[in-house]
Amino acid sequence: MHSFHYSNGGLHCEDVPLSDLVSEHGTPLYVYSAATFRDRFTKLDSAFSEIDHEVAYAVKANSNLSVLRLLARLGSGFDIVSGGELYRVIKAGGDPSKCTFAGVGKTRAEIEYVLKEGIYSINVESEEEAAFINKVAGELGLIAPIAFRVNPNVDAKTHKYISTGKSENKFGIDFELIAAAYERASKLPNLQLKGLQMHIGSQLTSVAPFVEAVEKVAPLAADLKRQYGIEFFSIGGGIGIIYEDALASGKESWWTEQPEETRPLTPECYASAILPTLQPLGLKILLEPGRFIAGNAGVLLTECLYEKKGSSKTFKIVDSGMHHLIRPALYEGHHEIVPLKESSGETEQVDVVGPICESGDFFCQNRELPRFMPGETIALMSAGAYGMVMATTYNSHPLPAEILVDGAEARVVRKRQSFADLIEAEEV
Ligand code: LLP
Repeated sequence: MHSFHYSNGGLHCEDVPLSDLVSEHGTPLYVYSAATFRDRFTKLDSAFSEIDHEVAYAVKANSNLSVLRLLARLGSGFDIVSGGELYRVIKAGGDPSKCTFAGVGKTRAEIEYVLKEGIYSINVESEEEAAFINKVAGELGLIAPIAFRVNPNVDAKTHKYISTGKSENKFGIDFELIAAAYERASKLPNLQLKGLQMHIGSQLTSVAPFVEAVEKVAPLAADLKRQYGIEFFSIGGGIGIIYEDALASGKESWWTEQPEETRPLTPECYASAILPTLQPLGLKILLEPGRFIAGNAGVLLTECLYEKKGSSKTFKIVDSGMHHLIRPALYEGHHEIVPLKESSGETEQVDVVGPICESGDFFCQNRELPRFMPGETIALMSAGAYGMVMATTYNSHPLPAEILVDGAEARVVRKRQSFADLIEAEEV
């Protein structure tokens, strides 16, 4: 469910017509729905209410300060992967003692920063890193709370660039080597063995790989609790969202109409599949969802500038592109495209492309879309996660503005960049 829908012939976010936002703020424009963020967080949180747990939102998915503040107020913890992300969380009013720090390449400055701020746990990717954290913590006169990330060697069956839980991926410590890693780390004086972590991949649309990984790793978590008194087991993020039928999936009725075999993953089905294995552990269970919370909560609005009819294709050229939403170019990601003005039903096969000087700069290719013409604005659905956070100023296009809608209210939560902003840090 989400809060983007047609009403009176125009696409709305909650109670706000998106065309009003375009008139006031221009395009390209990211628009987020506060109600959708709240709904996603609350549904996932409630699905795990039977056990001690914490939803630690993966900041990397959408790190806008207002988004972080909204989630912090709901009681969310945060999964961060850099010093910069912790800085954002703190600025947004989040609590470092509800944050975990992950990532394969942590610098000394980052380790010092998170330890001084009182991070809940550092999720460690190798024994070498554990030894380094032990040294840094010792120099600061602190004890570093850590969890090793185990690589369970489970196929997440997702795009190869966002699959992380196979032994050929760079992440975590091999399942076979992890017990020895804990054994050696238990001898390091400035570490506290606080938990165990895993994350097998992103945009998983079936529950089976999660079940496989949890069942494989749960006995290890139980052993580590017995031997070292660890207190948490983080099962990572990765719950997939709807991209193909994104607009329709906003309605409750769409979900009940889906045949059981193809019904998308819901928090309830995710929780009920893994809770029987997790509950007996008696550990605090951490969840690190990013996309599930943010993905369907945002759209990218872009204006069609030109229509170009080639000999084999029709191109709709828009004022945004891979520099603002790189998912189609990088992961063959599908984002549903709908015009702001409700379609009369007429469709045409088009490529929607941006202004960037790269052939990879497209939002879709050979796709049958509702007809729209130059001067009209379209929405790329499900762009709330890994959209703006991955945007760049490539070709010196300023970054888009971001708006957060809450009911009938719309606030600019990030100003549009100007040309002056583009060169602000540079010198001649
Ligand atoms: N925890 C860890 C350790 C992660 O590496 C990630 C995502 C998450 C949690 C959150 O995963 P989520 O719940 O959002 O699936 N840019 C790509 C996705 C990269 C995901 C990286 N790690 C995309 O646009 O599809």
